[in-house]
Amino acid sequence: MYTSKISGLGKYVPENVITNDDLSKLMDTNDAWIQERTGIKERRHIKKGDGNSTSVMGVKAAKIAIERASLANDDIDLIIFATLSPDMYFPGGGVRIQDMMNMKTIPALDVRNQCSGFVYALSVGDQFIKTGMYKHILIIGSENHSGGLDMSTRGRSVSVIFGDGAGAVVLSRNEEEDGRGVLSTHLHSEGAHAKELSLEGPSTEHWVPEIIEENAKDNIPYYPYMNGQFVFKNAVVRFSEVINEGLEANKLTASDIDMLIPHQANLRISQFVQKQFRLSDDKVYNNIQRYGNTTAASIPIALTEAWEEGKIKEGDLVVLAAFGSGFTWGSAIIKW
Ligand code: UT7
Repeated sequence: MYTSKISGLGKYVPENVITNDDLSKLMDTNDAWIQERTGIKERRHIKKGDGNSTSVMGVKAAKIAIERASLANDDIDLIIFATLSPDMYFPGGGVRIQDMMNMKTIPALDVRNQCSGFVYALSVGDQFIKTGMYKHILIIGSENHSGGLDMSTRGRSVSVIFGDGAGAVVLSRNEEEDGRGVLSTHLHSEGAHAKELSLEGPSTEHWVPEIIEENAKDNIPYYPYMNGQFVFKNAVVRFSEVINEGLEANKLTASDIDMLIPHQANLRISQFVQKQFRLSDDKVYNNIQRYGNTTAASIPIALTEAWEEGKIKEGDLVVLAAFGSGFTWGSAIIKW
């Protein structure tokens, strides 16, 4: 059985910075509330006409990752694309990446696990490498939230949190027997809470004619809904559980962690988890202050930045952990 390792990483965020003060001009909110409850100072939003889309941002991040892996597009055997905000309802975003990057007719797989999307995608990629089926897999997490948020006061508890951006990694077969790479991944779901963080329409439950009718009654099912406190309470428990699960599976303890990269859901959640595992500030990477919550993109963006800043070194134990809509959650334990 082979082992997979991350051979290249990249990120892209739109240039358009939206501060908390900018949002307070659109809705009844303020910088103090947003910072106190979430830690977010600003986020990036695609600007109409800037050429960006979920797939376009994914391509920009992917190009950097492939170059850093010292590979060419033709070396990639499989695309795995994680997003909850695809360019189109169908087909998924993976095929658009294949097209925009002029890749061979390689398979393109879409992952629909929201904030856990990147960890799920990494786990899927890891299995394909382990069996020997593929050698180099491009994994992308990309989100265009801004266009679909309710920017009125009605939507403020959700809209201030989310931002746009993309991150990508190349997962490659580790040809050396040096113990480096993905040690394990751990995935979970609990669909009983699907509606607690969801966007119900347009879908087969709420086709477009119904949405138009409901819209007329101001009962709009096409903006995201989040039961914030319920999600928060579940998140802190599941983050800790799934990190512990990963550590125990590898006979490791929290003191072995060199870098924890939690999905950037809320700075308060990251701080809670940090405290539970008694990790010092230099062992947890957060950038939600600058980008907000970018869902499937948040971990690959944070991982790329941590690596670019020299905070992840060869041989380090890196832990990724995510929780989000579904509910779904997961972790990955990586020897860098
Ligand atoms: O990435 C996927 C996973 N997502 C998460 O893990 C998110 C988890 N949840 C959260 O991060 C937090 O629950 C939020 C940041 C979403 C909300 O924070 P909260 O402390 O749970 O606030 P709340 O929803 O209980 O609202 C408290 C008050 C309410 O006013 P009243 O009823 O006390 O008068 C809200 O109407 O804050 C009000 N409020 C706002 N005020 C100013 C809600 N949103 C805003 C806002 N600006 N943007």
